[in-house]
Amino acid sequence: MAPLNSHSYHKVLALLAVIVSLVVTTTHASTITRRLETIPYLDYTGIEAAAREAISDTLKRRGVDESDLIARELLGPRQLSVTVPSCKKVSKRKEWRDLRYNEKKDWIRAVKCLQTKGDYGISPISDTLYDAFTQVHQTNWTDFHGNAFFLPWHRWFVWVHAEAMEHECGYSGPHPYWDYTLDYKNPTASPIFSTDPEVGFGTHGNIPLREIGQGGYKVDNGAFANLKVNLPIPHFLTRNFSAWKDWDPERHWGTALGGSFSPEQVKIALKAETFWELEAAIDGLNLTTFNDPPVVPSPDTPAPAGIIPLAGIHNGPHFFNMGDWNGPFWLLGTDWFPAGVVAPNDPMFWPHHTNVDRTFWRWQQRPGKQWEFNGLKGANRTDDPALPTDLLPFYGLGPDVPVALTLKTENWPMCYTY
Ligand SMILES: *[C@@H]1O[C@H](CO)[C@@H](O)[C@H](O)[C@H]1NC(C)=O
Ligand SMILES: *[C@@H]1O[C@H](CO)[C@@H](O)[C@H](O)[C@H]1NC(C)=O
Ligand SMILES: *[C@@H]1O[C@H](CO)[C@@H](O)[C@H](O)[C@H]1NC(C)=O
Ligand SMILES: *[C@@H]1O[C@H](CO)[C@@H](O)[C@H](O)[C@H]1NC(C)=O
Repeated sequence: MAPLNSHSYHKVLALLAVIVSLVVTTTHASTITRRLETIPYLDYTGIEAAAREAISDTLKRRGVDESDLIARELLGPRQLSVTVPSCKKVSKRKEWRDLRYNEKKDWIRAVKCLQTKGDYGISPISDTLYDAFTQVHQTNWTDFHGNAFFLPWHRWFVWVHAEAMEHECGYSGPHPYWDYTLDYKNPTASPIFSTDPEVGFGTHGNIPLREIGQGGYKVDNGAFANLKVNLPIPHFLTRNFSAWKDWDPERHWGTALGGSFSPEQVKIALKAETFWELEAAIDGLNLTTFNDPPVVPSPDTPAPAGIIPLAGIHNGPHFFNMGDWNGPFWLLGTDWFPAGVVAPNDPMFWPHHTNVDRTFWRWQQRPGKQWEFNGLKGANRTDDPALPTDLLPFYGLGPDVPVALTLKTENWPMCYTY
């Protein structure tokens, strides 16, 4: 038999690459159309083309040739007929205080309106689109919290929520963020927690309610008074603004926890040299002690004297709020702990996470940072490095997308800026 010459070698390699890419495309396609029901206003085909382009650009930036086997595997066959749409406009997100009265009122109306819309088969427990966001957020949540995927995953998640508000509930105003650094000295007095029945998120209320776990006070004032939410079981929305004082008796984090989301803490985050350090600053990870037994405050395990665990500008506002917004610790002592990360039950989730996203965006405006992505796939030093080509899981809430597609908010399909 004649030895394989260079020409035929390349033919074999090319054939192999096609087979690999077909196999991978099948898997990829089944991830993208995981549910039978697709969300009509998300352009799955366009998003797939944009995802392909984002991966291709990433590989170029990393010096990987597209004829490379790995590149072909990641990219799948090019669909020449599909071009990536462009943004009709790039919308600007605004601080809650800068929305007009009627915009605030309409934003709140549209959030509540999601409780009247179907969930595209996403949640086995409930069937409203409002609950679908909570469902998806709590599904295998450790895959996208406290690791490199946290910021890109939440960016896309918040964007899909904004799209749902626009397309299902007719919201057309600016999407708000809550700049908590304006309120860190006394966060519960922030105007966002106003008791106004039309434009206030309300306070923690007066009626103690322990339907689940730590409970709190039923939110009985403001525009979300008596809001019923359904995950993990139907209950009234609760908060407990005073819990934090017991959790942090030594005031490591400062009064009412505000010290963990002060302007100084944001400044520290924005100075992060790498994306991974940014994630650490935002989520209160200590990269030196990463994976040592975590020091997470709770009423049962208050911050040990002398150790200053970090809350980060992301967790701080969650913690001081308690109730639904607090995440798994709210469910301490129940069967749902620690799986019930139901924070999106509280509408505060959206302006808060929009501001977390804004901090990420601000960091990305620094020279050379737009496309930087690094860190680990999990909350364990032994986990693999995360890659911009990794897919983010959304469990039917639209397509799963690669990290690379989430890195520039001004690009299609997100089309927003700050
Ligand atoms: C959650 O993760 C586990 C382990 O990776 C996996 O088997 C399971 O299918 C995931 N859940 C969903 C809903 O995808
Ligand atoms: C609110 O938190 C405080 C401080 O931890 C606690 O004493 C109180 O029982 C909580 N209230 C409710 C209703 O859960
Ligand atoms: C992380 O933990 C180490 C060891 O406890 C400590 O020396 C260091 O200051 C901590 N880093 C931050 C940013 O808190
Ligand atoms: C981290 O991974 C190592 C090796 O797989 C494992 O032994 C350890 O229990 C993990 N730690 C945590 C906190 O999950």
